[in-house]
Amino acid sequence: MRVGIDQIGFYTPNKYVDMVDLAHARQEDPDKYLIGIGQSQMSVADQTQDAVSMGINATQFYLKRIERQRVGLLIFGTESGVDQSKSASLFVKSALKLPPEVRTFEVKEACFGMTAGVMIARDYVRLHPHQTAIVIGSDIARYGVGSGGEVTQGAGSVSLLIAAEPRILAINEGHSAFSQDINDFWRPNGMATALVDGKYSTQVYLDFFTQTFKQYKKLKGWQTSDFTALAYHLPFTKMGLKANRLAVAGQAEVTKTRLEKNFTAAAQYGRTVGNIYTASLYLSLLSLLENKKLQPDNKIGLFSYGSGAMGEFYSGQVVSGYERQLDVVQDQKMLARRQRLTVAQYEQVFNNALLDPSDGLELTSDEQVGYWYFAGTKGQVRQYRQV
Ligand code: HMG
Repeated sequence: MRVGIDQIGFYTPNKYVDMVDLAHARQEDPDKYLIGIGQSQMSVADQTQDAVSMGINATQFYLKRIERQRVGLLIFGTESGVDQSKSASLFVKSALKLPPEVRTFEVKEACFGMTAGVMIARDYVRLHPHQTAIVIGSDIARYGVGSGGEVTQGAGSVSLLIAAEPRILAINEGHSAFSQDINDFWRPNGMATALVDGKYSTQVYLDFFTQTFKQYKKLKGWQTSDFTALAYHLPFTKMGLKANRLAVAGQAEVTKTRLEKNFTAAAQYGRTVGNIYTASLYLSLLSLLENKKLQPDNKIGLFSYGSGAMGEFYSGQVVSGYERQLDVVQDQKMLARRQRLTVAQYEQVFNNALLDPSDGLELTSDEQVGYWYFAGTKGQVRQYRQV
């Protein structure tokens, strides 16, 4: 029995800032952001979009295509949690009217949280092949206005349905994991923005990639040339590009060219959305699937990295007819609908979103009809509504 990704949903907020505008405002050469960092735009979440509302929005698109009653597990990976106790997944379950029998919880290990969820879901479906599992990754990457990490912010969510006999990507047996207790990036309780040792974090990411990719190939008895594409956690596209350069070093021209071209396709969405932490790797996968014509059984390698730090490499095989399960038009409309903010507007929206609205204040959203949003708290209970 094959188990893997059967559906993919994606959401990003309806505002963005352009990297050339940001570079001018920060008195930097635009090429530093466009080429050196490899980002063109970044999505900006206002006060009405949080991890929960974005997760609902990413999931609701494919729900109409699946049997809701078969969902037995709902996992929410995030490091932008909205409560210290209650799982973000319960708000999602309620908004989307999932069955009361569903087992549901939140997981955290920085950007690795969604991959942790995917692995738990895969094992669950192996044991319960008639049931399916929803895994959501949803985050707002925040370092702060004018900070060193500002250009690597972003916001969004990806939701996966994990099922037996999947229609998009069958996950292969085996994985290679590597963890180490380090301080490259973290967000202490009470802080709305992350602390980061930027240069160190990029080195650790590359070390973890080298280690897990090597181990995985050894485990499976595979070569780099066996992979059609490699999808990476993309905090910014240059980070993945550096890992991809390590992967293709010393390879034959045909392998090098293929992996480089497919990296460009996989980085297309992340380049305009920015870092979405937990869901970033899965946005790369979606970008690859929607911007490249793949063949059945093509092998896709997936590298997940979460600061702190945890790395994992695994792979999947493309399923014949996968295109029919995707909604390219919807996903590209999602990106195209965003409103371009001036840098002053972005700073205002960003800083306002760091504040909790006063209890009882009802927030309204400028999203399109059908999208969910955070409407404020009532008696300190978070309220989610649909436009
Ligand atoms: P910085 O100091 O702004 O940038 O920090 P820089 O001076 O290192 O320059 C960046 C690149 O631009 C360099 O290229 C420059 O040469 C180039 P590189 O040496 O890297 O190849 N450059 C130019 N290129 C073209 N034209 C120019 C030009 N000028 C310079 N004119 C840094 C960059 C990424 C460190 C910073 O933005 C940061 O701290 N970001 C946040 C941390 C981060 O994203 N780390 C990634 C790995 S950790 C991770 O992925 C986990 C994470 O997602 C969190 C989680 O797990 O939850 C972050």
